[in-house]
Amino acid sequence: MPLVLSSPSQQATIQIGRILGTCLPRGTFVALDGILGAGKTHLVKGIACGLDEGGWAGLRSPTFTLMLSYHGGRCVLHHVDFYRLNEAPELPGEILEAMNSDRDITVVEWAGIWREVWPDRYIHIQIDVEDDDKRRITIEDPQGVCPDMAKALEEFVAQPAEA
Ligand SMILES: Nc1ncnc2c1ncn2[C@@H]1O[C@H](COP(=O)(O)OP(=O)(O)OP(=O)(O)O)[C@@H](O)[C@H]1O
Ligand SMILES: [Mg+2]
Repeated sequence: MPLVLSSPSQQATIQIGRILGTCLPRGTFVALDGILGAGKTHLVKGIACGLDEGGWAGLRSPTFTLMLSYHGGRCVLHHVDFYRLNEAPELPGEILEAMNSDRDITVVEWAGIWREVWPDRYIHIQIDVEDDDKRRITIEDPQGVCPDMAKALEEFVAQPAEA
């Protein structure tokens, strides 16, 4: 069953990311999807913050570099954006290595563009725009990579629409 969360603001999305950053195990690959401006980079900022309080302030989109890596936290975080890599003939080896690492956490924005390169174990997060500031965040963990996640994110679980 996917975990469906509701984020009312960009701060809430960062907070959801921060919680993920505290509970994701080392070696996790996170595939992020959602339209332009959905809030993917904000979620990654939160993850960076959860790994290293204070270490996220400098997080930027990996626009000019293919992958940005942060070494200050409890484990290395690699931030990749497939959108900018779309035109590349093949995925650079260092990115494949990061995605398959059993030590580092790697988060890929626009991961759905290259579904065929995902490792077997992944967490998929889809961010959908519901309203101006409201986002629906759907998290799938088909291999049970992070069993603590549902409990840790309890306060953000979306309530089913009233009948
Ligand atoms: N609940 C919310 N969560 C996240 N961002 C929000 C939310 N509400 C409004 N926003 C706004 O939406 C935008 C999200 O930008 P962000 O760069 O995180 O998106 P993105 O999905 O990474 O886009 P891109 O595909 O261009 O990389 C920001 O301008 C942010 O202020
Ligand atoms: Mg982005």
